[in-house]
Amino acid sequence: MEEKHKDKVAAPSTVKQSRGRLVFFLAVLLAAVGYGLQSRQQLSKDVPDAYILCTPDDAKVYTVDTANSRAQCVAVNGSYIIGVGSLGGSLNDTYLDASRMPVFYTPAGSSIVPGMTDSHCHILEYGASKIIPLEEGKTIKGTFFRKVVASIRNYILKNPDIHANKSKIIEGWGWDHTVWPEKRWPSAADLEEDPVIRGRPVVLQSKDGHGIWVSRATLEANMPFIQDMEGGVIARDANGDASGLFLDNAQDLVELPKATDESLYKKLDVTVKTALSFGLTSLHDAALKPESLAFFERQAAQGTLPIRIYGMRFFNETEEYWGDKVKPIIGAGDGRLHSRSVKMFGDGALRTGGAALYEPYFDNPSTNGFMRLSNEAMDNLIPRFLRDGWQVNVHAIGDRANGLVLDAFERALDGVDVVALRPRLEHAQLLSESDMKRFGRLGVIASVQPTHVTDDMWYAEDRLGPERIKGLYAFRSILDNNARITLGSDFPVEGPNPLAGFFAAITRVAVDGSSPHGPGGWFPEQKLTRQEALRGLTIDPAYASFTEETLGSLEVGKRCDLVVLSQDIMTIPVDQILKTKVLATVMDGKPVYGGF
Ligand SMILES: *[C@@H]1O[C@H](CO)[C@@H](O)[C@H](O)[C@H]1NC(C)=O
Ligand SMILES: *[C@@H]1O[C@H](CO)[C@@H](O)[C@H](O)[C@H]1NC(C)=O
Ligand SMILES: *[C@@H]1O[C@H](CO)[C@@H](O)[C@H](O)[C@H]1NC(C)=O
Ligand SMILES: *[C@@H]1O[C@H](CO)[C@@H](O)[C@H](O)[C@H]1NC(C)=O
Repeated sequence: MEEKHKDKVAAPSTVKQSRGRLVFFLAVLLAAVGYGLQSRQQLSKDVPDAYILCTPDDAKVYTVDTANSRAQCVAVNGSYIIGVGSLGGSLNDTYLDASRMPVFYTPAGSSIVPGMTDSHCHILEYGASKIIPLEEGKTIKGTFFRKVVASIRNYILKNPDIHANKSKIIEGWGWDHTVWPEKRWPSAADLEEDPVIRGRPVVLQSKDGHGIWVSRATLEANMPFIQDMEGGVIARDANGDASGLFLDNAQDLVELPKATDESLYKKLDVTVKTALSFGLTSLHDAALKPESLAFFERQAAQGTLPIRIYGMRFFNETEEYWGDKVKPIIGAGDGRLHSRSVKMFGDGALRTGGAALYEPYFDNPSTNGFMRLSNEAMDNLIPRFLRDGWQVNVHAIGDRANGLVLDAFERALDGVDVVALRPRLEHAQLLSESDMKRFGRLGVIASVQPTHVTDDMWYAEDRLGPERIKGLYAFRSILDNNARITLGSDFPVEGPNPLAGFFAAITRVAVDGSSPHGPGGWFPEQKLTRQEALRGLTIDPAYASFTEETLGSLEVGKRCDLVVLSQDIMTIPVDQILKTKVLATVMDGKPVYGGF
């Protein structure tokens, strides 16, 4: 222990002593690049199996071990970390001689952190939302429909296989009528106006999951429609014909294109490329449909899953209990795929007034929001899932939703080993003071999204009033009550950059530095420290997904997932954080993004 610790912070003198030896290795490896040119050497995809990666000037490897130690270098063999320390210490001449490992230096000023995790995101939905960017133009007044139609047209023109075949279904995801300047719903006619789109089957799902907008060809393929649908809306034109918009239950009247592995892979690929470019190596998918999970399982079995996925299996309270029949997935595809948790929805969202509150909404005293899960359902389901070995992750936004779910957890957890079960509250946005205490006492994990803070801070007080607001996104209070926090973005709801979450968590200001409470941040007493935020993106999500033995920190014996950042996010001024670039992302010891 002692010796290991001593190693972790490299003394500059020992670094210097080993320069000669290093230059020797570099010379052999890289045709005599001198020290001054070390940043030019290429850490690229054909890196050898065993190598050492070092930061040049100082101990800039943030290991995120229990002591939050720093080190100069990480030694890698295959997928695993076999050494962490300084070149003069545990990675000394004897070690280098014995192993003949080449040494790569990261560029000046850079730092290394463990591969980061998004603890709450929607993988395939993000991909779908980017393939045809339906959100485009949301800030351009008066041109929204034209922009959307232009995105669809560009997508067709960019994909010759689709352009050439007018019966290929065009699928899009993510339109959001609440941000449109036009105060009307979209229709099939909007799509038929464009000569490239006209006549093609188009199906566009809304971001909130409540609506489908289709083209004339899709309407015709699904005709005839019933007159009215219980719990749904079939939008109609002046002649009384279906106009191409179906809301809520009426969405079931449109047959969605059957997902093929090819179409799913397209979506996955978009998300993975983006995620790796931001230094994300693990994604916790917050509500997997069975067909998406089956697809990830096939990818894992073929060894082609390009990122780590922790899947929360969606449970619809109307479906039959399956916790005793379905087997959790643990480490499929050489540790890439885990799915041992079930996701349920406790309530709705704050913005739409669906979050369940103890007291009425401040700006709408006629409602307290609503629960989507009854106490009976929770008392029936939660203990059963836990007993059958499933982690239970419940979406809870409002204080009443969080309280009721905690009540159900408390009853279910009585006398059981919480460390073995690790229940999570997804979002955990608004908490009463007593529930914050319970969080820590029960060992429930708070899965929170810091970029929601800097979005919602502008309107949330209108919704909740001046008192309750203090319990909204009160991250510091949650931690101070000894609860664990794990960080995510909820992409595609927010952008996927984990450094945006890091920045929001430690500053509580918008990207331009502003907040309703000024440049010092919105409720600044609730800021996380950089160390806490980094842990919330690395080791805490590993714990929250039962993978802390192999992931989440840079320690001997763990998988080598790491990120090389252009700057040291732990020390640079906060206004520099969002300018930080990911220089390389390494998974299982191999660079999967970037290089230097
Ligand atoms: C050199 O490295 C070896 C292997 O890691 C280790 O056993 C030894 O203690 C190290 N020596 C020093 C002086 O740190
Ligand atoms: C790397 O692992 C392989 C396979 O286990 C082993 O043969 C080799 O000696 C290791 N190399 C180093 C430098 O530890
Ligand atoms: C056009 O696409 C449809 C639907 O995907 C497919 O069934 C058909 O075989 C395609 N036609 C050609 C010529 O590729
Ligand atoms: C849950 O199941 C019911 C009945 O099968 C269905 O109508 C509803 O759409 C499902 N809810 C979700 C969110 O999938």
